[in-house]
Amino acid sequence: MKSSQNYIIFPLDVSTVKEAARYIDLLSDSVGLFKVGLELFVEAGPEIIRVIKSAGSAGIFLDLKFHDIPMTVERAMGRVAGLGVKFATVHCGETSRMLEAAVAGGASAVGVLGVTVLTSISRKDIASAGFKEAYSSDMSSLVRKRAEMAKTAGCAGVVCSGHEVKMIKEAFGKDFCAVTPGIRPAWQAGNDDQRRIVTPAAAVKNGSDYLVIGRPIRDAKDPAAAAKRVADEIDSVLTDLKK
Ligand code: C5P
Repeated sequence: MKSSQNYIIFPLDVSTVKEAARYIDLLSDSVGLFKVGLELFVEAGPEIIRVIKSAGSAGIFLDLKFHDIPMTVERAMGRVAGLGVKFATVHCGETSRMLEAAVAGGASAVGVLGVTVLTSISRKDIASAGFKEAYSSDMSSLVRKRAEMAKTAGCAGVVCSGHEVKMIKEAFGKDFCAVTPGIRPAWQAGNDDQRRIVTPAAAVKNGSDYLVIGRPIRDAKDPAAAAKRVADEIDSVLTDLKK
């Protein structure tokens, strides 16, 4: 069984390699993967992948959330496939063809995850973006629709909120990976810009395979201690699940 710290994905949401290196150094032994997103990748490029790899055994999640015509997505994912990262993301967006292109470009060298509906998005946002009422009144139906597209296209899994994980696992099987952002431990005050949040314990209970936890760790006085606190919370759920 995966250890509790290996559930934790820490996003390196910083703007310089120097700042990233500080968190990599602090957290390499406390988290399972580091997530590299747009901000850091635009600044540092693929060099940051080498920096993370040379620091320890934590895996890498390259979260560039591709969304473009299929050929562009396939070719970009082809470049990602050569970097030796565990996961990379593509928006589920409008067409299955884009998802299929991402999977083809990944060529089984990287787990392609479809981003269903961002956890910062509310029902009101969905309604004002022009989606039909069925989706704004029940956002999980849109998440399910997009997860189905990702599954059919051959994605390794999806990124979804902790509220939808159970439904995703029931519908698409336990091997279809669910990565959950929008995690807020009970001890953290405020939600920042996240809307559909859950605690680490609730996410793991619902079946999440990985939890993206940024600001509650990054902004803690002692980030390694905060990661340990999250891992302990996950541990107690894993112990209960084993009973
Ligand atoms: O825990 P925190 O809110 O700080 O996490 C922010 C991170 O989660 C960012 O890196 C953001 O890209 C990521 N995220 C995501 N998918 C979402 C929402 C946030 O990957 N649906």
